[in-house]
Order: sequence, then structure tokens, then C-alpha cells
Amino acid sequence: MLLCPSTSCRKNTSVSDVKIREVPPQDWPLYKSVRLSSLEDSPDSFGSTYEQEVLLSDAEWQARLDLEFRGLDARPLIAELAGHAVGLAWGVIHEPDSKTAHIYQMWVSPSQRGKGIATSLLNEITAWALNKGCERIALAVTTSNEAAVSLYNSSGYLPAGSLEALRNGSVFLVQPMVKRLGNTK
Ligand SMILES: CC(C)(COP(=O)(O)OP(=O)(O)OC[C@H]1O[C@@H](n2cnc3c(N)ncnc32)[C@H](O)[C@@H]1OP(=O)(O)O)[C@@H](O)C(=O)NCCC(=O)NCCS
Repeated sequence: MLLCPSTSCRKNTSVSDVKIREVPPQDWPLYKSVRLSSLEDSPDSFGSTYEQEVLLSDAEWQARLDLEFRGLDARPLIAELAGHAVGLAWGVIHEPDSKTAHIYQMWVSPSQRGKGIATSLLNEITAWALNKGCERIALAVTTSNEAAVSLYNSSGYLPAGSLEALRNGSVFLVQPMVKRLGNTK
């Protein structure tokens, strides 16, 4: 499995060609490659930075995906198209709040945007969260990130809480957002 280079993935593909799967610990090199690409491509979209994560050891990358070892209830997802990784997102439940799932690390390869891949990743995490008995999904989005804000608005996420700094010292602000699931109030 390869990371999708921006010029070589087929452009006349649709979301129905995209396969979404959980990333097992042995696929850490792929996860590392996609995650570092996302941080390099979209530095203002994430709380973490390329400069921080490029320093992680291979053992640390592998350990991130070892959910059992971490005691973490999570679903790390990769979207694949024609044998290439084209997207990433995590769903995570942080105990003791078992009713809230969180979305992190959402990213779609620039050449594959606008095809519904992020929507598919959101749908997959929503189905997982519902299956886990969650009542809501939470995330935070940089306020100036029009594509992501529009994605979450159109997917039923609503602003929840005050703006916060993207990271220490950043001029960018993030808006926490929440989507309620099912018939919960
Ligand atoms: C935000 C991002 C994940 C969207 O991925 P995508 O696969 O292109 O999104 P989708 O094709 O599923 O789009 C779903 C909806 O999002 C909105 N959207 C997506 N891209 C948009 C854009 N460039 N401008 C405005 N709205 C956009 C639209 O409402 C769209 O629905 P529509 O196609 O019916 O109009 C992608 O642009 C990306 O990876 N950006 C950089 C990283 C990032 O910002 N991650 C989010 C961190 S919170």
C-alpha cells in the first residue's frame, strides 16, 4: 500500500471506488507516511505539527496504532483508492466519557478532495460511535478552514463552546463542534 502522490492517482474516480479500512499496528509505516503528509500539507488544520511528529521513532508510530497496549477505544481509518492511501481520520472515545466520540486527524489527499471521501470517513466513524453507544461526536475545526467548516456544518455538527487557540502561540483559532447522534437530547 502506497501513499497517493498528488499527480499519479486517477482523477476520474468516485467515492464508490474508495475503500475505508481500519489501520492495524503492522501498517504503521503507511500511517506514518499519511499522517506526516497531512501535517506538511495542512499545518493550520491540526493541533500537532510536522516538526513535532517527524521526530517520533518507528516504535512510537507503531505504538500509536496499538490500541490494546494503549487501552484506547479508537478507530484509526485509512481511505484507499486504487491501492493508494488518500485519506485519514480517527474516531476516539476517551474514558470515562463513554458517550462522546471524538474525531481527530481528518485529512484527504489534495488531488482527491471534493469526491466525498471525508464524508465517507465521517460516516464510518459515526456508525462506529453509534455501535459503541455514543450519544455525540465532538471535534474542533480551525475557523478559517472553509472546506472543513463547511464539511462539518453540512454533516450536522454545531458550534459547541468557546473558540480556543489551535496550539500554544498560534494566531489560528479552533471552534469546538458537536453532532448529537440518534434521538438523544
Ligand atoms: C476538509 C477536507 C477533509 C474535506 O475533504 P473532502 O473529501 O474534500 O470532503 P467531501 O468531498 O466529503 O466534501 C463534503 C462537504 O464538505 C464541504 N466542502 C468540502 N470541500 C470544500 C471546499 N473546498 N469548499 C467549501 N466546502 C467544501 C462541502 O459542503 C461538501 O459537500 P458538497 O460536496 O455536497 O458540497 C479536506 O479539504 C482536507 O483534507 N483539508 C485539509 C485538512 C483539514 O482541514 N482537515 C480537517 C481538520 S478539522
